[in-house]
Amino acid sequence: MLEEKLRQLGQDHIAKLLETGAGFVLRSEIEKDLKGISIPLVRELTEGRHLYQEPALVQVKPVPVVPASFSASPKAGRFRAHGEDLLRKGRVAALVVAGGQGSRLGIDAPKGVVGVAPVTGKSLFQLHAEKVLALSRKHGRAVPLFVMTSRANDADTRAFFAGHAFFGLDPQDVFFFVQGMLPSITLEGRFVLSRYGGLFMNPDGHGGTLAALRKNGCLDTMRDRGIEEIFYFQVDNPLVSICDPLFIGLHNLQGAGMSSKVVKKTGFDEKVGIIAEVEGKTRVVEYSDMSDDMRYALDAEGKMLYWAGNSAIHMIRRDFVESLTGSAVRLPFHRAEKNIPALDPAGNPVEVRGIKFETFIFDALPMAEKSVTLEVLREHEFAPVKNRTGEDSLETSRIMQSRLHRSWLKDLGVEVSGTSLIEISPLVALEKDDLALRVKSLPAKIDKDIYIP
Ligand code: UTP
Repeated sequence: MLEEKLRQLGQDHIAKLLETGAGFVLRSEIEKDLKGISIPLVRELTEGRHLYQEPALVQVKPVPVVPASFSASPKAGRFRAHGEDLLRKGRVAALVVAGGQGSRLGIDAPKGVVGVAPVTGKSLFQLHAEKVLALSRKHGRAVPLFVMTSRANDADTRAFFAGHAFFGLDPQDVFFFVQGMLPSITLEGRFVLSRYGGLFMNPDGHGGTLAALRKNGCLDTMRDRGIEEIFYFQVDNPLVSICDPLFIGLHNLQGAGMSSKVVKKTGFDEKVGIIAEVEGKTRVVEYSDMSDDMRYALDAEGKMLYWAGNSAIHMIRRDFVESLTGSAVRLPFHRAEKNIPALDPAGNPVEVRGIKFETFIFDALPMAEKSVTLEVLREHEFAPVKNRTGEDSLETSRIMQSRLHRSWLKDLGVEVSGTSLIEISPLVALEKDDLALRVKSLPAKIDKDIYIP
């Protein structure tokens, strides 16, 4: 019985409200909220177990990084060719995590629907889908796209794809799956009543991807389709080079379980996690966990020692996910305090200080026996849309997208005026080399905003 379940969880205050028949508490909503969540886990979290512990940063050193310059070296050819071969054989899936709440951007819709392209205003989802389509065409084999949503945005996300005819992808190659949710709690460990009559829940973080892949049968689907490798990326980065063959090849040929792309931090104080080697294991050290000594450490040449910023782009072996999710191993839960719109026991709207629990995908890195870290240039591959204004905003992202495409045109001899915005469809070119094949059809000079479809 529901009241009993709530009491087992130490949530007598909600059980009591149900018993007294308070009109603002909806039994069906609370049942829905608690269905599918692990009751022992929730109890343990409210008791403070399974929480992330700051790593003791004693044996720390920079992780070996394959430098960005490697991509132009003759040695890169073998790895790139191997990556392309895996794509041709249909061994690679793309996976975009899009279950977040996008609270910094402050929109009431899935982040993927936000228009970000500099000239056409194409949405993040459209850009990603077109890249996957272009990749599939290029390698003569469909790359399946897995889209992780949350309970809050699943229906809208599906409707957006359906409403746009899947942006040209075959719907049979697109798989939506919903991540888990967890109840947020007050600082005293009590569940919070939402304004919708249920509990205030939050998605369980991008680390929830792993369990959600298993729970929703996606690992089986992948196995049945012969997928061995998963290219993982976040919905908010329109510059991501989806299924970059060099990255796939480096990771796969070296037998890595999980690998990462890194970008140079813009400065010591950029609030981004870095990838380092801690006690012999590759892991992300979050900005907030770095001591000043570590944050400002210099190498022998006087340059930033821990510069390898996590871009949240990973290759993950399917069987690594299977072994992690099939074992008792858990990703640690991070606690984040925030203000929660809630109802007080009399049903009045209030704001309470609460805690949400989330797991992070990068906490799986040290669990992999082997990991490759590849540097890529920020201006080529990383322009996330996180904030409304300022750093990592729509504006900075649009400028970076336009700048990259302008540089391709300029390198191919096109004269481009300084102020024009440039956008090249992923269906035309995923990289400069694709555009080079069409150089004859390009204008000699561009002096206004242009979209090359
Ligand atoms: P962020 O950490 O940037 O969070 O997520 P967010 O929810 O998008 O935005 P804020 O922090 O509320 O402003 C990075 C990526 O991880 C996904 C997001 O959709 C984004 O692609 N994510 C995050 C999930 O899929 N699920 C989650 O529970 C959290």
